[in-house]
Amino acid sequence: MGAPTADGCQRRGRRRPRGSPAPAAAGGPPSRSRLVSPLDVSKGTFAYIQGEMIGRGAYGCVYKALDSETGQIFVVKEVALDMGSKEDNGYRERLMDELEICQNVSHKNVVSYLGHEHDDSHVRIFLEYVAGGPMTSVLREFGPLRGTLMKMAARGTLEGLNYLHSRSPPIVHRDIKGANVLVDLSFCVRLADFGCSKRDEMTMSYTMLGSIPWMAPEVIQREGGHGRKADIWSLGCTLIEFASAERPWGNSKFDNNPVFAMWHIGASDATPPIPDSAADDERELISRCVQRSPDDRPWTEELLQMSFVA
Ligand SMILES: Nc1ncnc2c1ncn2[C@@H]1O[C@H](COP(=O)(O)OP(=O)(O)O)[C@@H](O)[C@H]1O
Ligand SMILES: [Mg+2]
Repeated sequence: MGAPTADGCQRRGRRRPRGSPAPAAAGGPPSRSRLVSPLDVSKGTFAYIQGEMIGRGAYGCVYKALDSETGQIFVVKEVALDMGSKEDNGYRERLMDELEICQNVSHKNVVSYLGHEHDDSHVRIFLEYVAGGPMTSVLREFGPLRGTLMKMAARGTLEGLNYLHSRSPPIVHRDIKGANVLVDLSFCVRLADFGCSKRDEMTMSYTMLGSIPWMAPEVIQREGGHGRKADIWSLGCTLIEFASAERPWGNSKFDNNPVFAMWHIGASDATPPIPDSAADDERELISRCVQRSPDDRPWTEELLQMSFVA
């Protein structure tokens, strides 16, 4: 068993006695259908063995875990919080509200939420493990998606987004990109990393390219916040990423310069180029998504009728 490291990310084999359970995880609606069983976080004996780290984000780490009673392998997303900070306290409250919503989300193209717990310094979100990893890794390893695989990935991503957007109230993803589209071992895609407010997306954006190439013009201009139509733009950018195995706008376009990227996307008239390899109906779908005016972009229901994914 390893000792905790400074960032708390690399602990291994540590059993966690359960303390106060998160209210959202207690039982849940009995009729809920899930792809994997929810974890019994509320049970006093719930314990898991922490495995390898599989992702590292801006605010914490993602690692594999094994339920030491049932053997279920799942994922823990750990978000570190500074409870002395007013900003982090506000963030924690928003996160808790959103986790309440996430527990009712169940769709084949969306990662299942299995429960959560929190203590003074961390929120830990338990998720279904999607073994193929993020689409960015698939693209890096195997190159651009073509033909049937491109259709499958586009259809699945769109269906997952349609599901989130048609919830009541709608769930806006806010960070659609290849790194947040996970792939299972049958090439079924699942949207991940939704419903968790970023602490401050724009502060992050100024320091690294991060999600900027996928961001809609109105998000960068901070006009009217991040609505469902901004997700549609990011979907178009993500499909360009799938078809090119590069970031939208091209890997070298912004020269890793976030200020230039924000100016170009936010203030020019440009739209991200669609790869020459795209078939006509594929091009049509992508170009409808990356219209600069949000009103010109269709809703997900309309996109689902388009011939490329129908
Ligand atoms: N459910 C999961 N199954 C498999 N890998 C995951 C899962 N959730 C996250 N990951 C991995 O961790 C990375 C970061 O997770 P994510 O939820 O996107 O966090 P962040 O908010 O830090 O971007 C993902 O890109 C992916 O590689
Ligand atoms: Mg992410």
